[in-house]
Amino acid sequence: MTAPGSTSPLYATFARADVAFERGEGAWLIDTRGNRWLDFGSGIAVNALGHAHPHLVAALTAQAGKVWHVSNAFRIPEQEKLAERLVANSFADRCFFTNSGAEALECAFKTVRRYHWAKGHPERYRLITMEGAFHGRTLATIAAGGQEKYLEGFGPRVDGFDQVPFGDIAAVKAAITEETAGILVEPIQGEGGVRVLPPESLRALRQICDDNGLLLVFDEVQCGYGRTGRFFAHEWAGVTPDVMAVAKGIGGGFPLGACLATEEAASAMTAGVHGTTYGGNPLAMAVGNAVLDVLLEDGFLDRVRAASLRFKQALAGVVDRHPDVFEEVRGEGLLIGLKCRRPVAEMNAAFRDQLLLTMAAGDGVVRLLPPLIVGDDDILEAVKRIDAAATALSAAPHAAAAKSA
Ligand SMILES: Cc1ncc(COP(=O)(O)O)c(C=O)c1O
Repeated sequence: MTAPGSTSPLYATFARADVAFERGEGAWLIDTRGNRWLDFGSGIAVNALGHAHPHLVAALTAQAGKVWHVSNAFRIPEQEKLAERLVANSFADRCFFTNSGAEALECAFKTVRRYHWAKGHPERYRLITMEGAFHGRTLATIAAGGQEKYLEGFGPRVDGFDQVPFGDIAAVKAAITEETAGILVEPIQGEGGVRVLPPESLRALRQICDDNGLLLVFDEVQCGYGRTGRFFAHEWAGVTPDVMAVAKGIGGGFPLGACLATEEAASAMTAGVHGTTYGGNPLAMAVGNAVLDVLLEDGFLDRVRAASLRFKQALAGVVDRHPDVFEEVRGEGLLIGLKCRRPVAEMNAAFRDQLLLTMAAGDGVVRLLPPLIVGDDDILEAVKRIDAAATALSAAPHAAAAKSA
């Protein structure tokens, strides 16, 4: 295997850690050297049911022996089934399946633009978005996210996105023009640092959309699908969007995303105006249906909420014990952020020294995203490792201070 940074034929776009995993079971990953890692990153909130979940393995292997791929030129019964189940359990009436989160958002953008176009308002194509957002890495989604570090060097930014400060409702109102088509937000910003948009803000955005004929678009790629202890994060606020992008947990590790919409919002997405080769193919749909079987089981989301409570309480204790390392615990359900007083890269490295996988985020936050099936023992073990990492950091000189000394 080529070591990172050497002459790997791969694009150098990922700063990869020098560890490779061979197999997984539940919340654990085993690397090629035989080390057992506690996986509290879940491939960035993807492995919702952990690794090698027997129901998902059975569904995938059964489908693999039947048919993998069929063009969307034909009916795909498993796709219709998953769409019906999503519609029955959400605000949505319509569903378009994709392979990723960014593609789900692209579909959302096109749905919004085409809706206004069909209503005789082609000039209404702009979306108001929030600073710190992350919506993916396609040209349109980096424009929607508005982060310079992702836009730099990629030519003129795709037009049609107006950013306001995070959570600033007055700024949203002020940004509305005759060209505004809708508002796009993550109910909880993931990459942005586990920043929760308060329920009253989500309700205010719904009202603004209703008052101005705009479509409300939620990006629940990271915070949706049980991650917060409800099926979708916006359910906590009691508001519904018109259009929503979903991905990550929906496939439990199989590349899958979806754009969900109300009948009205999707009314202009008629035959031929949008498409995909792979989106919603039988293999993906078999896994998607299997994930949903488990997620919708009685008591599953109750267990996520209970696990969240136990984990957050224990983490509050860790923060109290190490005020020189941690500032606060934030987030909902099992989308948890530890705001750190040390650089995030240093924190992640310290957790890796304890064989604990975590994910970096913005705003000085390390994300803890255990699989939703995480057990009490795994939580206790993670807390022990976080404590040990903090103790080691406290004993060591502060990296920044050491450098300047
Ligand atoms: C909130 C959010 N939206 C969109 C995306 C993009 O999803 P993908 O990487 O599957 O294209 C991500 C990925 O991290 C995300 O967290």
